[in-house]
Amino acid sequence: TAAPLIDGFGRTIRYLRVSVTDRCDLRCRYCMAEHMTFLPRDKIATLEELAIIAERFVARGVRKVRLSGGEPLVRRDVLQLVQRLGRHVGGALDELTMTTNGTRLRDHAAALHEAGLRRLNVSLDSRDPGRFRHITRHGDVAQVLDGIAAARDAGLAIKINMVALKGVNEDEIAAMLDWCVAEGHDLTLIETMPLGAVDEDRTDRFLPLTVVKERLDARFTLSRDAAQTGGPARYWRVDGGATRLGLISPLTQNFCDGCNRVRLTTEGRLYTCLGHDDHRDLRAALRDGGVAGLDAAIEDALTTKPRRHDFRIGHGDAPAVARHMSVTGG
Ligand code: GTP
Ligand code: 5AD
Ligand code: SF4
Repeated sequence: TAAPLIDGFGRTIRYLRVSVTDRCDLRCRYCMAEHMTFLPRDKIATLEELAIIAERFVARGVRKVRLSGGEPLVRRDVLQLVQRLGRHVGGALDELTMTTNGTRLRDHAAALHEAGLRRLNVSLDSRDPGRFRHITRHGDVAQVLDGIAAARDAGLAIKINMVALKGVNEDEIAAMLDWCVAEGHDLTLIETMPLGAVDEDRTDRFLPLTVVKERLDARFTLSRDAAQTGGPARYWRVDGGATRLGLISPLTQNFCDGCNRVRLTTEGRLYTCLGHDDHRDLRAALRDGGVAGLDAAIEDALTTKPRRHDFRIGHGDAPAVARHMSVTGG
């Protein structure tokens, strides 16, 4: 079998994130500008190309694939990719999963479970309709909550992703955790990251999770949980129950030493770090050189994986990279 993928710092790559589309039906203010220029259709890799590339990573030791975006469920026929990759679950893959905004979950939940997904991360920054509409610019929270309920009914475990935003949803974090405990979901809080120009200064919205954790400690009994999903979060068990609280703190607590991830974009490019611009065109490598060409391009890309990202948030700081999170799938 093919050799595993190890970067220049000795980190083994076990987790592939695939952005299946850079498009989204929402425009969350920390993620996108109101008016976005998306990739032209002729630059977008086919699902077949994405599948071949992803399967090559699986053959090279990747144990977990996450489909994301943009919003993965706005790509037509995305289910075909899910079904194809789902065939590896329980074999070469420990987990096939997805990060979604939930707007179309009601329609897709059962098919996702059928294809082998067992767990979903759903972005939900507020449960208040007006506030949700404000943050997402277009979203209807009732639709997302309905999608989450449908996913749970289909047998999918749910983790809620909530970006902690100063002065926007910080007063709702404890209530969100209460709700997750009541519903049996996990909750992950995320620090806003400086990726791509949006129409506001992220500095005004940045809320360090160190502060949030202190506030939550006053309301909940949080005990450190050693469980690992293979992602960047650190976890705490909430009040001795089943719910876990995850904290993703790229700004206040760097986790790059343990990084096991690379990212495939809609164009078929491989980015080895969320916070850097280095990438290789795997789609072209595959087209020009077949699997051997693909392998060579992957190896080459791995030599460029940086030790860490250098995210900083301060007034006047430019984004760390110009591309938005939706291009590399987070
Ligand atoms: P689990 O499998 O549940 O652990 O999910 P995950 O945290 O790996 O995936 P998800 O798509 O839910 O991502 C949550 C947040 O973590 C998003 O904002 C991602 O951008 C961020 N994230 C994931 N990997 C990295 C990383 O390597 N670096 C940074 N800075 N952020 C990351
Ligand atoms: N900083 C932090 N999180 C972000 N997300 C999107 N853009 C950003 C950003 N700039 C979140 C979404 C989703 C996850 C994939 O990343 O809310 O839950
Ligand atoms: Fe869409 Fe997710 Fe970005 Fe919101 S955070 S605009 S739901 S990709």
